[in-house]
Amino acid sequence: MKALVTGASSGIGRELVKLLCSEKDNTVIGVARSEKALMELKEGFKECFIPVPADLSRMSGVDTVVREVREKLGELDLLVNNAGFGLYKKILEHTDEELLSMTMVNFITPILLTKKLLNIMKPGSTVVYVITAGVYVLLDDLPVYGATKTALHYAVNIIRRELEEKGIHVLTVYPGAVVTPFHEKAGYKIEKGVKPEEVARAILEGVKKKKKEVYTPAYLSIAKILTPLMIHVKGPIQTRKQ
Ligand SMILES: NC(=O)c1ccc[n+]([C@@H]2O[C@H](COP(=O)([O-])OP(=O)(O)OC[C@H]3O[C@@H](n4cnc5c(N)ncnc54)[C@H](OP(=O)(O)O)[C@@H]3O)[C@@H](O)[C@H]2O)c1
Repeated sequence: MKALVTGASSGIGRELVKLLCSEKDNTVIGVARSEKALMELKEGFKECFIPVPADLSRMSGVDTVVREVREKLGELDLLVNNAGFGLYKKILEHTDEELLSMTMVNFITPILLTKKLLNIMKPGSTVVYVITAGVYVLLDDLPVYGATKTALHYAVNIIRRELEEKGIHVLTVYPGAVVTPFHEKAGYKIEKGVKPEEVARAILEGVKKKKKEVYTPAYLSIAKILTPLMIHVKGPIQTRKQ
């Protein structure tokens, strides 16, 4: 399988690269800004892993990734839109740059990558979007993050139909809190949640079984029924350790 995983330097994306590269005959391009972290991953998976440092908050970064995927893989069986970040601050306290880059990384870039790589994806391939179970409530403490992920959730559930017409499978992923550097970078100390390895395993299983949606933990699928209630939630959606 030829795969592209964004956000490969850390957390869920890093664990997914490890899983993909521990299987035979896979080639994986991993994207993130942190070249050092990507090179460390390369050390463990020399044959399988191709690091592509790029800033996905910039069009130039998206173009670099598209060029590298075309040149180094030629075709793509799996596109995992996983890179993302959030900030624990009020909407109006975000800087202009934070608003723009969060919207780009979390919402626009996944659509651009889908659009620009579609012509090297054959019927039977899969596009994964890592969203958040937070789209079903109002994340008061991560409001711009929640808004960008909600925009992605909305768009992707329409893109799903467009891609399915071409024989391309779409998997949407809705984790609750995951114990990764995401929260510390966003300005919060997380106390409980699932491990990134578990989310990566659930994603890979979802790809192989051609599932439509994956929730981690699985019982969070119940969160869907909360949408019309517009419930306000403080902090992340912290579930018990699995
Ligand atoms: N952790 C949670 O509780 C949780 C819950 C629900 C959903 N999610 C979602 O899961 C996905 C993965 O998050 P995680 O928890 O694994 O967090 P993480 O450990 O912080 O990883 C985020 C990844 O995204 C990359 N990234 C961020 N900004 C980027 C940019 N401008 N250009 C390129 N890459 C960029 C980071 O790489 P660099 O910093 O090296 O660029 C890193 O590899 C995200 O979409 C997140 O929203 C997380």
